[in-house]
Amino acid sequence: MFQRAPRAFFSLVIVASLLGISRIDAARTDAALPNGLARTPPMGWNSWNHFGCDVSSKLLRETADQMVSTGMRDAGYKYVIIDDCWQVARDKSGRIVADSIRFPEGIKALADYVHSKGLKFGIYTDAGRKTCEGRPGTYQHEEIDARTYAEWGVDYVKEDWCYADSLDAPTQYAKFRDALAKSGRPIVLSICEWGANWPWDWAPRMGNLWRTTGDIDDSWNSMLANLDLSSQHGAVAGPGGWNDPDMLEVGNGGMTDDEYRAHFSLWAVMAAPLIAGNDLRAMTPATKEILMNPEVIAVDQDSLGVQGYMVSARPTDQLQVFMKPLAGGGRAVVLLNRSSLQTVMTARWHRLRLGSPQATVRDLWRHQDLGTFTDHFSATVPAHGVVMIRVMPVAK
Ligand code: GLA
Repeated sequence: MFQRAPRAFFSLVIVASLLGISRIDAARTDAALPNGLARTPPMGWNSWNHFGCDVSSKLLRETADQMVSTGMRDAGYKYVIIDDCWQVARDKSGRIVADSIRFPEGIKALADYVHSKGLKFGIYTDAGRKTCEGRPGTYQHEEIDARTYAEWGVDYVKEDWCYADSLDAPTQYAKFRDALAKSGRPIVLSICEWGANWPWDWAPRMGNLWRTTGDIDDSWNSMLANLDLSSQHGAVAGPGGWNDPDMLEVGNGGMTDDEYRAHFSLWAVMAAPLIAGNDLRAMTPATKEILMNPEVIAVDQDSLGVQGYMVSARPTDQLQVFMKPLAGGGRAVVLLNRSSLQTVMTARWHRLRLGSPQATVRDLWRHQDLGTFTDHFSATVPAHGVVMIRVMPVAK
C-alpha cells in the first residue's frame, strides 16, 4: 500500500498540515467506487418516509415541480427518487414491469419529465429475491435491471436487502455495481442493508452511500439512535462514498422544529446524504427554512469531505459537541442538547484543534457573525435542540 499510493498520500498530508488540520481530519485516502459520482453527499428527495407504497407518476411529477418552485432544486437537492412499490412483475424476457395503473406513462417518460426540470431521477430495487414490500427483487437479474434502468435514464439506484436469506451482501452488491458499470450510464448506487453486514468494511468499494442503521422513524429518539450508530464510522466516509444514517424526516410532523433543526444540523455535520422525505407540496415556512438553510447545507457539502465526530463528552452524555473540519481550516460545530432542559453549553478551541487561541464565530441558524472569541464559545441551547456555528481560527 505504501508503495502504491505514497504521492497522493503525502500531498494530502501536506495540504492538511497547511490547513492546520491533522491527519485524522483529512479525507479518506483509500479507493472509493471509481464512478466519479457523489463527490459530496447526495442530496434529493425520496418517497418512502412520507408516502410509503402510495407512489405514482402524479406524485413524482408534482414533487419534481415543487423541487423547482420551492427552491429545493436551487438549494442543492438534485435526485427525485421513487422508493419501493413502483414495480409489479417481470415480463417473459425477465424485464421488470412498472405498475401500469400508478405509472401509466411508464418510467422512462417520468424520468424524462424529471430531467426536463433540471433534476436527476432515482429508483429503488432490492438485492434479494423480493423487495421489502414483496415486489420482484434484482437477485439473478442484475444485468437486465441495470440495463433497463440505464435505458430509462435512471441516475440513482437504492438497493435494499430484504428476502436475501443465505445470500452474501458484498457478493450481491458487487454484482449490481458491476452491472451498473457495464450499463455505461453513470448511476449512483445507494446500498441499503441497514448496517447488518458491516458495510463500513466493504461498501466504500461497492457504492456511493451505504446505510449504517435500521429505518429511521419520525421521532427524536430514532433520529438520535441513528446518529449514535452512524457517527461511529466516520473514518470510512469521503468523496465518492458516504455513511447513510437514513433519509430525513424534517417536515413530517413527529418532531418539533427545534428537533428538526437538530436532525438537519447533525446530518450535515456527519456529511450524511440529505434526502428529504416529506411532502414538498405542503411545507410550512419552518420546514422550508430548515431544509433550505444554505449555511448548513454548505457544511454538509463541504469539499474537504470529512465526516464530523464528537469532540466532547462520552457517548452517553446528554450534552455533546460535534465538530466537522472544513476546507480552508474552519470547523462546523454542533452543540447538541439531548436533555429536556434548556442549558448553556461550551465549545473549547483546544477540542477543535484550532491551533489558535482566537477564532471568529458565525451562527448558522441565525445567520449572524457573533464576533471573535478567545479559547471557547458558550451559548444557551434549547432542550432537544442545537446551536450550530462555524468557527474560523484567526491567524496568529
Ligand atoms: C426498507 C428500507 C427503507 C424502505 C423500505 C421499502 O425498510 O430500509 O428505507 O426502502 O424498505 O420497503
